[in-house]
Amino acid sequence: MRQRHQVGLGLLILSVLAGCDGPQSVFSAGGADAIQLNHLFTVMLAGAVVLWVSLNGLFLYVTRRRPERMSRKLAEGVIIGGGIVLPMVVLTSLLAWGLSIMPEQRAQGQGLTVRITGEEWWWRVEYFPPGSETPIVAANELRLPADARTEIELRAGRVIHSFWVPGLGGKTDMIPGRVTRMSLEPLTPGIYRGQCAEFCGASHALMALNAVVLERGGFEQWLRAEAAPANAPEGAGRTIFFREGCGACHALRGTPAASAVGPDLTHFGSRTSLAAGILPMEREALVSWIANPGAHKPGARMPAYDHLSRTDLETLAAWLEELE
Ligand code: CUA
Repeated sequence: MRQRHQVGLGLLILSVLAGCDGPQSVFSAGGADAIQLNHLFTVMLAGAVVLWVSLNGLFLYVTRRRPERMSRKLAEGVIIGGGIVLPMVVLTSLLAWGLSIMPEQRAQGQGLTVRITGEEWWWRVEYFPPGSETPIVAANELRLPADARTEIELRAGRVIHSFWVPGLGGKTDMIPGRVTRMSLEPLTPGIYRGQCAEFCGASHALMALNAVVLERGGFEQWLRAEAAPANAPEGAGRTIFFREGCGACHALRGTPAASAVGPDLTHFGSRTSLAAGILPMEREALVSWIANPGAHKPGARMPAYDHLSRTDLETLAAWLEELE
């Protein structure tokens, strides 16, 4: 009976731990900072276990022993050794080690800087290559080179958000009127999912983004393409875009659409997700989003375009997908 309980408990723990994996997990670390945070967690946990086990051991020992059979010297040894020296040694070493790894978690900008601004409920993403004052503007997706440290400058629109890509590093608040900084050094190329980690309103839980880590060469190539103006061919889709006033909120570099109210759409079609990480970049999802953004993201500022015919919606969506 007891063995069966133990097997059951083991299976339960395994199934819970299995849920800790995946693209948005601190345990699937793909960056130097996330790996170091995992070390920090393991060492802190080990320290806590050492303290917990030894203090409980001492407690059991002294409560089970008859007082008259305990010498004064032993009693004092237990109190001073177990109650003062042991916690001090363990906690001081943990603190010293924790402080020693802090500087590496700070921003150290020499190369690329990416400015990310938390909006309701999407991310404005601006790339500043070294020495450049004018950013390459994008939105709702972060691309980073592997094996390089990138400085991340964080800002916020109207309310506080928190930037967090668990697989790459720790979280940092984004505060209106202030600039906060962090840096990330991804190691393994791949897609890591990020999520806003500070309650920021109705659609806080629907404010995600993919962080796409590319090999150095691939990243340089991508950044060059991202810097280019939009390839926005003439046609029915373009006519609908401008007729419906999409350019009053969105920018398409190289066209009359130049507003910064909503996400920049210059290379929209090359992104891996839609509406800040919550929908797949697919025709049907895009049609549904344009027709009624509020149905997917309550409180989204983009108005519904449900007065457009199904054909117009599809034509517009197909044209937007071509903006690679
Ligand atoms: Cu933005 Cu929560």
